[in-house]
Amino acid sequence: MKILIATEKPFAKAAIDGIRKIVENSGHELHLLEKYSETTQLLSAVADADALIVRSDKVTKQVIEAAGKLKIVVRAGAGFDNLDLDACTSKNVVAMNTPGQNSNAVAELVLGLMIFINRNKFSAGTGAELKGKKLGIHAYGNVGRLVARIAKGFDMQIWAFDPFIKKEIIQADGITAVDNAEDLYANCNYVSLHIPANDKTKKSINCKLLNLMPEGGCLINTARREVIDEDDLMKLFDKRADIKYVTDVAPLNIAELQQKFGNRIFATPKKIGAETAEANINAGLAAAKQIVNFFNNGDVTFQLNR
Ligand code: 3PG
Repeated sequence: MKILIATEKPFAKAAIDGIRKIVENSGHELHLLEKYSETTQLLSAVADADALIVRSDKVTKQVIEAAGKLKIVVRAGAGFDNLDLDACTSKNVVAMNTPGQNSNAVAELVLGLMIFINRNKFSAGTGAELKGKKLGIHAYGNVGRLVARIAKGFDMQIWAFDPFIKKEIIQADGITAVDNAEDLYANCNYVSLHIPANDKTKKSINCKLLNLMPEGGCLINTARREVIDEDDLMKLFDKRADIKYVTDVAPLNIAELQQKFGNRIFATPKKIGAETAEANINAGLAAAKQIVNFFNNGDVTFQLNR
């Protein structure tokens, strides 16, 4: 089988080497399309692929239709908002992700961003400490749990809200679980977002919710740009001179926000949350193993479109 890795943002070399071993030792062929800039490149590369590994690359209906032989696509990572699951299903393509494999990298970045913004973006001036402050985890999944665990080492008080996880499970980790997002935002000095981007969550982080944050509140977004109501973010920054926003998924209006609100906002130039060799190896190798297991044993454990 021909297995194609199509990554606009390539994996680390060690990950590619590991994936190649898994693929070739199982008698399959590995092909690479890295750092492509045009969709047409992706469309022609997928034409004869039996399997596809991507990162945040958009696997649209057009891509699925151009991939006549495709049987499986694996998003090497957690969020699968870049996969058109209906298109996959209509062409009998199995879609999977690799949950948890790159979570630690993202969680470490959250703490890094918090320290960076608290210490004047590593420039002169009086900063603030994380110790004793309240951190709200908005969605207690793989990344949220790790952020909580690391933040405990900073002596932060951890709160969490997740409508899909029983409060007792969260509380068993020594965390204050709340019943709704409003309680989380109203009580926490920092809120770290870990919700997926879907029809229910898009633009759900709005001015009304953020305005509940206490004086000096800071929102950290390593999740998805789309969950923020960006017009509302501008409104909130205009209204509240104390609020800060640090993100790994820059808003579309970042230039305007930075120009107007300078030090209160920071965005990485390109999403780097999962950009560690370790995360690339974990997610990349998991994707390759899932594909080989699917071809050899019909294993569909991580299938998203059932
Ligand atoms: C994910 O959903 O796994 C992360 O956002 C990482 O995305 P990336 O593979 O584009 O770095």
